[in-house]
Amino acid sequence: MSPLDLAADTRVLWRLLRGQPRLGSHAERLEGFYAPQAARYDTFRARLLHGRDDLIAALEIPAGASVVELGCGTGSNLAAIDRARPLESLAGVHLVDLCPALLALARQRAHGLGNITVVEADATTWQPAQPVDRVFLSYALTMMPNWRAVLVNAWAMLAPGGRLGVVDFHLPGNGSRLGNRFWRRWFAHDGVHLTDQHLRALQSLFIAPYVRERRAPVPYLPGLRAPYYLFVGVKPEGSPL
Ligand SMILES: C[S@@+](CC[C@H](N)C(=O)[O-])C[C@H]1O[C@@H](n2cnc3c(N)ncnc32)[C@H](O)[C@@H]1O
Repeated sequence: MSPLDLAADTRVLWRLLRGQPRLGSHAERLEGFYAPQAARYDTFRARLLHGRDDLIAALEIPAGASVVELGCGTGSNLAAIDRARPLESLAGVHLVDLCPALLALARQRAHGLGNITVVEADATTWQPAQPVDRVFLSYALTMMPNWRAVLVNAWAMLAPGGRLGVVDFHLPGNGSRLGNRFWRRWFAHDGVHLTDQHLRALQSLFIAPYVRERRAPVPYLPGLRAPYYLFVGVKPEGSPL
């Protein structure tokens, strides 16, 4: 980490140290947290949010597919989707988020791309006009208080045989009690709620699960590695929509 990185990260670090605002609606707290750091969001999170490309590769997005990202932030995952399957070969990508400051950057990214829609909406309730082939959440489920409703909503928007992918921090079953407690508290300060329940719920809802549990470095915490997982599962054929 160079002194230049540190100087550029100051606003992000200050916001992370202050934590997510405690007052207001969920959407207002997200905006209060992200607006001051939006300009530096992508650069900082590239060093914190690992495995996003791997998740999108594991989704095996076919040509002609329609794709939804719930909690898309700045839309930075569009680049990974494009690497896995060129955007112009897709029926469409819907980027959904509740935070206007981050969505403004997603709109800049999507500008001129006819098949990308950017939607300000709540992941617990937003639905596409037609069932879709792939839905994914990248470091978003842990920031969604009503995460069970998000999973039910994601299930509802998927066509039978479609796939749901999640990459996120969690509390691994094989993690030490002390380690899990540290990560739970450290992330909770910023509104990121780690649990072992997400992966369990995903495994009970979807079939043919692909699961990888990993650890990755965290900027400015030398020697510590935060636990995260990748999950991809299939909505069974014949399931009611
Ligand atoms: C850590 S960011 C991840 C952004 C992006 N997926 C990425 O990989 O960089 C989590 C995102 O979830 C969004 N979010 C939280 N709760 C939401 C909800 N109920 N509906 C839609 N988006 C939500 C936040 O606004 C934020 O953009």
